[in-house]
Amino acid sequence: MRTTALVSLVAALGVAACATQHRERVSLPAEKNALWRSECGACHQAFPPMMLTVGNWQAMMRELEQHFGEDASLDEASRQEIAAYLQRNGAPDSYGRHSASSLRITDTAYFQRRHKGSSVPLWRRTGENKPSNCPACHKASDEQLW
Ligand code: HEC
Ligand code: HEC
Repeated sequence: MRTTALVSLVAALGVAACATQHRERVSLPAEKNALWRSECGACHQAFPPMMLTVGNWQAMMRELEQHFGEDASLDEASRQEIAAYLQRNGAPDSYGRHSASSLRITDTAYFQRRHKGSSVPLWRRTGENKPSNCPACHKASDEQLW
């Protein structure tokens, strides 16, 4: 009887620990791309492709000279390689909740719903005002990236 209780307690703790880790972890695609990592990770962490639709990524890749107030332009070959990578790994256009006309991940319905409630006190606690600073709260599945 005592052993059974102990076993269930350990099991419950194990589940709790997994749930916490899962929540903090952001998945990056299994397919790696060195150019995406270096070019799109130069000014900020390289954002998880699944967080935006393919259509949003394509629009962003067409206007890199005016990228959120910065010039993030690339030579044509690099631009095409990264655009193709994002096309393969972005969310399908039918996932409307992963799309935002501002092309910001943080403006998508999916991001906003997942970060409702718990996010506001968390942002205050970390002293980080930018929701786009994912590593303030998350670990990436690929540690080298973040
Ligand atoms: C020259 C610096 C620079 C480079 C290079 C760069 N970015 Fe950005 N990016 C920015 C800035 C600045 C912002 C706005 C950050 C903010 O306001 O939080 C931004 C924002 C973003 C956002 C929106 C984040 C949000 O608020 O949800 C995405 C997505 C993004 N960049 C993707 C990319 C991709 C893809 C590439 C590679 C093609 C790239 N960036 C290269 C500077 C850069
Ligand atoms: C201030 C802290 C904070 C920042 C910054 C933040 N997140 Fe989160 N994120 C959370 C918390 C907390 C949750 C869990 C919310 C819940 O489960 O109620 C979460 C949940 C998620 C989920 C859902 C995970 C799942 O397993 O269901 C994804 C995906 C995600 N965040 C991606 C991102 C990305 C990408 C960025 C950057 C653009 C980001 N987050 C920025 C705190 C943050």
